[in-house]
Amino acid sequence: MWRLARRSLDLNSPYSYLMLEEYFGDTCAVAERDGGMVGFVTGFRPFDHPETLFIWQIAVDPSTQGMGVASDLLDHLVDQPRVPRLRYVEATVTPSNEQSIGLFRSFARRWNTECVEDVLFADSDFPDDITDDHEAEVRFRIGAL
Ligand SMILES: CC(C)(COP(=O)(O)OP(=O)(O)OC[C@H]1O[C@@H](n2cnc3c(N)ncnc32)[C@H](O)[C@@H]1OP(=O)(O)O)[C@@H](O)C(=O)NCCC(=O)NCCS
Repeated sequence: MWRLARRSLDLNSPYSYLMLEEYFGDTCAVAERDGGMVGFVTGFRPFDHPETLFIWQIAVDPSTQGMGVASDLLDHLVDQPRVPRLRYVEATVTPSNEQSIGLFRSFARRWNTECVEDVLFADSDFPDDITDDHEAEVRFRIGAL
């Protein structure tokens, strides 16, 4: 997961991926092809809002993008029976990430439900001494499922 993430996402420590897999494995998934990992999704259900699945990161290897892998990963997480029932999916996306915006809007269409978009973190919320300026993060709240 760390190797896939470092190609295209804010890279977190290898430890954070191991920790998510160990403690939030129920809301994470990987996609494999020919024995290799071609995609992953990590997420969790916020303690105070267990009806919501927050997607933290999702990434697909460039060689298999546009083939429905990310959509399958999201559907797989949402399709499982959960207690309490899952009603919303949330994720944050930067405004320039057209692929990711397309992914979550397409998910909402497929599940025949609403997608509400609002700014969760402004660009000014991020430290100004990081190497690259960080865009705002727009929250996509999809549901009710
Ligand atoms: C975002 C990402 C995970 C999508 O994975 P994918 O497997 O290619 O997505 P899918 O094939 O399931 O496509 C789902 C939807 O995404 C949209 N999409 C996919 N590629 C797109 C592109 N190049 N431009 C615009 N929209 C695109 C489409 O709307 C598609 O919906 P449709 O099938 O109804 O037309 C992948 O592009 C990626 O890994 N990007 C880099 C990492 C990233 O930015 N992750 C998200 C932030 S956490």
